[in-house]
Parts: sequence; C-alpha cells; structure tokens
Amino acid sequence: MLTDARQLVDIDAGLVDRSIFNDADIYQQELERIFARCWLLLCHETQIPNPGDFISAYMGEDPVLVTRGQDGVIRAFLNVCRHRGNRVCRADAGNSNAFICAYHGWTYGTDGKLVAVPSLKEAYYDELDTSKWGLVPVAQLDIHRGLVFATFDPTAPPLLEYLGEMAWYLDNFFNRREGGVEVFGGVQKWTVRCNWKAPAENFTGDAYHAPWSHLSAILTSFSASSASRQAWTGSVLTPGNGHGIVALGPGDAAEVPLPEIEAYEAEVRPEVVQRLGERADRIQPLFGTVFPNFSFNIGPAHTIRIWHPRGPDTCEIWVMGYVDKKAPPRVKELTRLNSLRTFSMAGTFEQDDMDNWEEVTKTARGIMSRRIPSNIGMGQGHDGFSEELMARASEYRISETNHRAFYHRWSQLMSTDSWENC
Ligand code: FES
Ligand code: FE
Repeated sequence: MLTDARQLVDIDAGLVDRSIFNDADIYQQELERIFARCWLLLCHETQIPNPGDFISAYMGEDPVLVTRGQDGVIRAFLNVCRHRGNRVCRADAGNSNAFICAYHGWTYGTDGKLVAVPSLKEAYYDELDTSKWGLVPVAQLDIHRGLVFATFDPTAPPLLEYLGEMAWYLDNFFNRREGGVEVFGGVQKWTVRCNWKAPAENFTGDAYHAPWSHLSAILTSFSASSASRQAWTGSVLTPGNGHGIVALGPGDAAEVPLPEIEAYEAEVRPEVVQRLGERADRIQPLFGTVFPNFSFNIGPAHTIRIWHPRGPDTCEIWVMGYVDKKAPPRVKELTRLNSLRTFSMAGTFEQDDMDNWEEVTKTARGIMSRRIPSNIGMGQGHDGFSEELMARASEYRISETNHRAFYHRWSQLMSTDSWENC
C-alpha cells in the first residue's frame, strides 16, 4: 500500500516525520516515484571521451551501462541481460566494442543491439528475433555542460525544464571557463550506513553545520585565515523544483589558501563574470544538490557526488573530482590534492559528515526516537524570491529554506505518479 507522503512532511511547521529515514515501504515508493522518474546524473562526458568508451552507473538500484558508440553518440541502457537478467558489464569503466554476458554469452554492441547469441541456429532454430532483444535503453538522455543525465520516465519534462534556473547555478561549477571542466581520476565508491536523503539534504542547503561539524577540518585545512572564513556572507538559495545551492558572498573565499590557487581564482574571476553575467558578481555558489541525489561542491574540494540508494539505511557514495579544463597543470594537481584531503573517502570534511548522517539514520530505527520529527524550520518567513538571483533566497547566510524546498518536492513526487501537479 502506498504511503501518503503529504502526511509526513509539514513545510509550514518545518517538520519531517523521521520514519522516512527508516521505513522499507517508503523506500520502495521512493525507488518508484523518485528514482524511476527524475532526471539522474550518470557521469561526465569526459569520462568516456573516445568511441567504445563505457562506464557503469546506477539509477536508483538499477544498474545502467553508459557507452559512447563508434558513431560518437552517448547512450545508456539497463545493464541487464535480456536473456535471464544477469548484469552484463561488470567492469567499472573501460573501452570495448561489445559486451558479452558471462552467463550464456549473449553479446551486445555499444549501441545496445543484440549482436550474437550462442547456438542461435541449433538451439533457437534461428527463430529468435534478435532485433527485439537488445539492451533496454533509458527513456530520455540529455547532456548539459558535459553532465550526462537520464530518466526512465518518457513523460518526464525535458532536462532543461527539470533543472529550470538551476542550470545557471550549475554553470558556476561546470561552465566557468571556455571548454567547461574535466573529471580527473576514477570514481571513489564506498558504502555508508545512512539513508540517501541525509547527504542529499545536507548538500542542498546545510550551511549551518559547516562551522560546527567541520571546525577541526577547517582549523587544520585553513590555519591562519580560519577566523575570517567563519564570518562569510551569502545566502541559501533554491532555484525551484527541489534543487538547492549554498552560496558565499562576493568577497568570500572557500578555497584552501594556497598562493597558486588564490592567484588562479583572482585571474579567472573576470572571465567567469563575463561568461555568466552580472549575477556571478553578486553571489558565489559553493555547493548544492540537483534533486534528488546529485550533489557537487567547489572549494575546498571540487567534487561531483551521487548518493545511490541501497536500502532505507544504506547509501553508496560515488565521488569524482573535476577541474576547469583550461586550468594550468599545477592548479589541476593542487585541486586534485585538495579534493582528496578534504572531500573524499578519507577526506577530513567527509569524515565529519558521514558520522552525522549515520547517526541521524540509526536513531530513526528506534520506535520512540523515530516519533521525534526532524526540525527544518530555521529561517521560516525570512526568505523570499529574489529577482536579482532568480531564486528563493534566505535573508541570512544560514537557513533551512532549502531543506523545506527539498522535502516539499519529495512529498510532491511521492504523492503522485503524474508530472501534471509537480
Ligand atoms: Fe545473459 Fe543468459 S543471462 S546470456
Ligand atoms: Fe559537511
């Protein structure tokens, strides 16, 4: 039976029922109504630059294979054999002109077509119509600023409509300079015992935790300038559709204070403002979430992160680093090192975050603890739509306005299988 999600989220009161971090039925409903419908990030196109390149991804719990065909076109399919459902490609990434299922040998091309079937003549008497048994493609795939998105829902709105004004905010991370960004290294993957929404809501707008949870990481990463970095200006912004951004003010900096990085940022600033327009001079987006589970940050780490759901109390975190394509080699190397030291499997900031997300999830297991709702009421009534920023913006730099936008969107999608009222 479906749960009425509107009963679980009270935006006006700023309360969220914490059973949503634990309940198995709600989790199944999320897989169906959120992960099988929303636009989800698969990868960045620089991870598969050449014909035949492929990378494994997930959409919810569904394994997905992303390929670049010999024709240069990027496609994505369920990574599920049409014979009896084995996962076809087991490699994380690579280059191949065919994918052979390990079970009975059905073989698929990079375009998903079934190209070979062992014993087709003898066992199937040549009666199997192979043209009907290719890999199942995603319903829609689109690429924005090199970010490859897909949805299983043919009725989902086009990607740019789904992103709305968030598309401009993404430019502040992935389109700052000509040529955009490139992903470096592989994908870090690890499992945390937390519900996927804990990190997603954190990255959508939790400026509150940064100077508290990350104090030791800030003190050890930033040393002398830490004090001034605690007094940043800026705003928490939601450009709509449940997406969220935490932004610094124009005079603030979040990069690790290394002379080469600071000099690079100062040098590229005019180019960024020229490319993105005056709005980029008023606000500096720092981190955010595209609903539901694609988050990103820029300073002190440059990472793309996907919060893959793996059950009500488990999340598989995928993290990859990115940097401006046009950045000089030394800046690229420093960006890589900063990202690893701060926001990676072993990063100092990441440790702080994971600990909180696990405990938030764990306490929701207790019958009594679960009855205590989550409080997302901070700054209620102290936010409003800003024409200048084209987003709902908080008056103060710390607010839970984006948490409310995230859970409003969550309850909307969970309550209907139509996009009409979403
Ligand atoms: Fe793939 Fe049989 S399950 S060939
Ligand atoms: Fe954090």
